[in-house]
Amino acid sequence: MAAKWTPESWREHKGIQMPVYRDAQALGAVEAQLSQFPPLVFAGEARSLKGELAKVVAGESFLLQGGDCAESFAEFHPNNIRDTFRVLLQMAVVLTFASKLPIVKVGRMAGQFAKPRSADTETIGGVELPSYRGDNVNDIAFTAEAREPDASRMIRAYNQSAATLNLVRAFSTGGYASLDRVHGWMLDFMGRSPWAAKFEAMADQIGQALDFMRACGLSPETVPQLGGTSFYTSHEALLLPYEQALTRQDSLTGDWYDTSAHMLWIGDRTRFEGSAHVEYLRGIGNPIGMKCGPSLEPDALIRLLDVLNPSREAGRITLITRYGHDKIEAGLPRLVRAVLREGHPVVWSCDPMHGNVIKAANGYKTRPFDRILAEVRGFFAVHRAEGSFGGGIHAEMTGQNVTECTGGAVAITDEGLADRYHTHCDPRLNAAQSLELAFLLAEMLNEELKERRAAA
Ligand code: PEP
Ligand code: CO
Repeated sequence: MAAKWTPESWREHKGIQMPVYRDAQALGAVEAQLSQFPPLVFAGEARSLKGELAKVVAGESFLLQGGDCAESFAEFHPNNIRDTFRVLLQMAVVLTFASKLPIVKVGRMAGQFAKPRSADTETIGGVELPSYRGDNVNDIAFTAEAREPDASRMIRAYNQSAATLNLVRAFSTGGYASLDRVHGWMLDFMGRSPWAAKFEAMADQIGQALDFMRACGLSPETVPQLGGTSFYTSHEALLLPYEQALTRQDSLTGDWYDTSAHMLWIGDRTRFEGSAHVEYLRGIGNPIGMKCGPSLEPDALIRLLDVLNPSREAGRITLITRYGHDKIEAGLPRLVRAVLREGHPVVWSCDPMHGNVIKAANGYKTRPFDRILAEVRGFFAVHRAEGSFGGGIHAEMTGQNVTECTGGAVAITDEGLADRYHTHCDPRLNAAQSLELAFLLAEMLNEELKERRAAA
């Protein structure tokens, strides 16, 4: 097939889930302005991430991807960025400590501003308005003016992404992420969770290991891997005018990269063959993710992989499966078998969030923690049975003490959802639930590794 790809060839394809801007001139001006702005990430960094993901394909590393469902202008605050970053660090340390595998850390951060929606409009009290599509498209307030797509929001999203990325880079390498600070990552409000005590015990053990290594001459001051970490950004490449404006040609290789994030993914609604989103993503050199839900047939998946990764580069593709706790064991094996049969190198990652949304009796959209866990369990069971490597987790989570998903060790009830329900889109795991998930995930990952090692 491969007709010539350009950063704008997607415009000739079927594009859904994107806003129609009434003011075409304003849109053009924003696109022109964005295309002159500095790139947010470097092509070389995207290639480093691809290299790290290639190790996941080989079963030598594990992917942790997480963050907000939707970042928002309203929640833009250094504490929010820091808290989500540190819960990701805690999760990574728990996973490393248990599995002895390096963890590839990728935030749904610094650019996760555009949302696909199941309906184009929303009706409240007899009033029908366009759906909220994320802060770089329109405003969540339920008024006609707020819901009108406004291209200038892309400039604000870019600026917020730049500032967020700047802070995250500083945290990653400036000392905050140093392993000798592992005790300091504990959040006060997690004290009530039994997993907080478990984390403290693990932090003590890490501290002892570091003391021992220091005595041997190895310390965060002398070994960069102990004093900092690599951390990457990602978001759904949904709003293509924005992504196109940040697409740049790498001066080293001549290849095109989307410099809005290290990794981009295609959502479950836009990953159909011939879509504008598939067309755009096939031409950029970044590692890319693809959400795979129950409607994806194995043959279509293989054709998509042939388009998105014709040279079968390891680390290029991460398949993020999101079936639902009750569908994964029946649905996922078909995809795994097809991919193994065709020899496509992929990272298999589990999104246990998007197939497990329910409406609580009081109307809140929520996700029961038990179902999230059940999907992760099903994910590992399928990969064990098929002989593939379950190599990643993709979670919607926050470092804040929100009440959006029910259950967990400090159980949130249906009634409790109303207390601190702040998400701009889907319900997120709070900090304590995220840590709990990491510990339980680490156990499952260890089981998987034990069997793999025994079989090898
Ligand atoms: C998301 O990750 O926020 C999302 C919309 O997921 P999906 O495309 O899997 O529905
Ligand atoms: Co979501």
